[in-house]
This record gives sequence, structure tokens and C-alpha cells, in this order.
Amino acid sequence: MADYILAIDQGTTSTRAIVFDHSGSIVATGQKEHEQIFPRAGWVEHDAAEIWTNTREVVGLALTRANLTHRDIAAVGITNQRETAVVWDRTTGEPVYNAIVWQDTRTQKICDELAALGGGAERYKDRVGLPLATYFSGPKIRWILDNVDGAREKAEAGQLAFGNTDSWVLWNMTGGVDGGVHVTDVTNASRTMLMNLDSLSWNEEIAGEMGIPMSMLPEIRSSSEVYGKGRQGGMVPDVPIAGILGDQQAATFGQACFEVGTAKNTYGTGNFMLLNTGTEPIHSKNGLLTTVCYKIGDQPQVYALEGSIAVTGSLVQWLRDNLGLIKDAPEIEKLAASVEDNGGAYFVPAFSGLFAPYWRSDARGALVGLTRYVNKGHIARAALEATAFQTREVLDAMNADSGVDLTELKVDGGMVANELLMQFQADILGVPVVRPKVAETTALGAAYAAGIAVGFWSGEQDVIDNWAEDKRWEPSMEDAAREKTYRNWKKAVTKTFDWVD
Ligand code: G3P
Repeated sequence: MADYILAIDQGTTSTRAIVFDHSGSIVATGQKEHEQIFPRAGWVEHDAAEIWTNTREVVGLALTRANLTHRDIAAVGITNQRETAVVWDRTTGEPVYNAIVWQDTRTQKICDELAALGGGAERYKDRVGLPLATYFSGPKIRWILDNVDGAREKAEAGQLAFGNTDSWVLWNMTGGVDGGVHVTDVTNASRTMLMNLDSLSWNEEIAGEMGIPMSMLPEIRSSSEVYGKGRQGGMVPDVPIAGILGDQQAATFGQACFEVGTAKNTYGTGNFMLLNTGTEPIHSKNGLLTTVCYKIGDQPQVYALEGSIAVTGSLVQWLRDNLGLIKDAPEIEKLAASVEDNGGAYFVPAFSGLFAPYWRSDARGALVGLTRYVNKGHIARAALEATAFQTREVLDAMNADSGVDLTELKVDGGMVANELLMQFQADILGVPVVRPKVAETTALGAAYAAGIAVGFWSGEQDVIDNWAEDKRWEPSMEDAAREKTYRNWKKAVTKTFDWVD
């Protein structure tokens, strides 16, 4: 067998290809950002064709940098930004509209109309584990069919296909218009609002209410099995594509959260905490989502409770791109460290409304507590603290739902390089925060899923054996100070409500 696994991580801001060896170590990486398109306030789009071009490019880069060819690759795993909806024409291979990104809020009206059919925002929750919210794919598909000329007719004639970016990349890799495989995995399907959580099959009634023809939907498969092979003439001809996991589930897998009660928190564009709840779905009473965590081949599926936060790392990007406050993302730490504390400022980045635990699509961002004293150092600090406060809210909800308090938190993702944030995170949670040696756990998780499917790794035990701790931050803040600043945060959150008619 070949000696390496290739993971493709199609994320919100960039696409990465990473080559891993048998010990789970990174051999080489290729990465490329794609354009963030904001046609109107609240709208966020990607060009799916650009994403596919970038995917090919980064795979080529990673292989070249590793000094390998496709013959050295035993399998490919795909992981992806979830919920982002691509609708394409099976006969031309062209997307009919830009991909509508998970952060986009344009489907509010569609969600309200569905809620008004009865049951409110919880209308589908017992079946799909999710509240009606602009975050998920189903209403985005509906919007495209309602707003793109001729799309509905073509969809009804079976000509259009829907997928999250996993399906889009897989379809293209396996042949596109020449017999591409139209498949997704259970974790991605669980983010559409269209999949029954128990049976892992599409729910025709919900699809009917949303006006989505069943023929558009990909086949739902496990997270670890061979879906197809790289097409001839493509970047990895004949290599099995054998793992798909939504990025947050992939990180949970890569962090070896296989025991019930284990959790991880990923600091990316947004933050996503997942708690493994075992083979039974647990329905949240505290604003969390119920989602599929992973399913290895024909083994029973494992579920998770998820706390999704829409804006964390993307607030740092916003300070860089929209305000010019910093030149690059790492500079935020230096700026934040130039002051002792937040100077009384609290920044609630409700740019896409608020996700967990509030699910308030009427919320919009607020920067409060300002005085003449506040300078840009305080604003930088308030921006970083927002990530930690939002994570505390999600952890509180997890503890309340599970009835057991988490004793430590495994973290990963880009922002975990930020020491100031990690220390503040431990302080605000009151539990240690633990970073693994390989912080690229998203790509690693997808690599493991693919490698397990083809026998490159034997199973979960290999993942556990390869996991190693890099650094641990212990909480050091006084209880009274912690609770005071957290109370102020909660007050700031209330200022973001009721901004949309
Ligand atoms: O649910 C959205 C999430 O999957 C996006 O993650 O890391 O691409 O921002 P990321």
C-alpha cells in the first residue's frame, strides 16, 4: 500500500490539501484563499467554480512540496465548510448560482414562512435536530430555486444537483459531467434540515414543504468508505476517495473524541464545540444542535451535541479588512497585549445574527461600554474576549444538557496559536484548555476516516495512539472577577437584539 493519505479541507476562507504520514504527522500542505462575496448586507457567497479550481491547485502544490505523486497516496479524505449550498447543472457541470455560505442570512423570510406552518422555529427539530434558522442548507436551496431564472423547472426535470462543498468537490474529482459520483456523508447531510436523524435518510415531507425535488439530493453514505476513485486525467487518478466529514465533525474525530462525554472546540471563522453523546441522539434543552458526529462504514452512527458560534476568527478578519485596525491576523495578539484589560469595552459580533445558544437572527453586532478611555488595544482585546465569552456560553449549555461538567477542553484551529486568547479562555471557563501537537485536526480527521476505510489505519485506536498534547493552559482568574466580567458580557449580548424588522 502507498505510504500517505491526502486530506482536502474545503473551508470557509480557504481550501487546503495536506499530506499525512502513518503517524498522523503533516508532510506537506497547499493552501489558497477564495473570494468572499458580499453582494448585500447579510449576504455571503462563494464562487463554487473558483473553489474547484483552487482545490486542484492546492492538491498539486501539496504533492509537489511532498515530492510525491498520486501513486504514493493510499486514499483521499474530504472535509468541508458545512451547510454552504451549491446547486449545479449535471449536464454542463456549471453552478447555477454562487454558493450561498452558511453565514448568509437571506433566507430569514423562508424560515419565518416555514415556522408559520406550525411549530415555530422548532417545527422540524425532533426529526432533524436543528431549529429553523438561516444557517442550514435547505432554505438556501429553496432560495436558489425561487430566484434563479429557470432553476425550478430544471430541478424538477432532474437536471440540477445540490451539495455542500464536499459533494461538489467529490463530484468533480470523480468525473463531473462524465459520471461524477453524487454522494454526501451523514455528517454533512445532518446540516441540511432535510435528513432524519434516526434513519439517516432524506425526509421527503420536509423537502416537499421546502419545495426541493428529491432528485437534487445526493446519496447519503457513511463517513468512512470508498465513494469513488479519482478520474483519469485528474489530479489523483484511480486513488480511492474514502472519507467525508463536515469540518467540525472531522476535528472531533481528529481530536480522538470517541468516548461519550469527550468534546473539542475548534477556533476557525466561527467556533464550534462538539460533545460526543454516543449512539443515541440527545435533544438539547439549552440551544444546542443535535448532529451526526461520524459513522465508520457499517458501524452504528455516533451523535454529538453542537454549540455553533458564527463569528470568532472572522471578527479578527473584519478588524483587518473592514477597519484596517491590524495588518495581519497575528497582530491582534500584540495589540491586545498592549493593554491590561478590555477597559470596559465588550464586542458582540452578531454579524450573522446570534447562533448558539440564542438562535436570534434579529441580532446585529454591538460594541458597548465605550468611554474616551477606550483605545484600539482595548477593542482588540474585546474582540478576542468575545470568542472566549461565546465559548463559555456554549460550554454552560453543554454542561446543562449533559448534566456533567466538562473537566477540560480540547482545542484546535487557527486561533489556538493565540496565547493571550487561550489563557483568557481557560480563565473564563474555569477549566484547563488543552492543545494537541497537530492543531490541523480537521484535515487530520478526514485523513483518518479515509485511511481507516482502506485499511491504512486499523481503526480508532490508531487515532488515540497518535494524539499527543502540546500545551495546556490552567485557569488563573479569581472567581469573583470571572463572574463579573461574564455578567457584563451577558448584558452586552442583550444590546444586540431586535435590530431587524
Ligand atoms: O458550520 C460552518 C463550519 O463548518 C465552518 O467552518 O472552519 O470553515 O469556518 P470553517
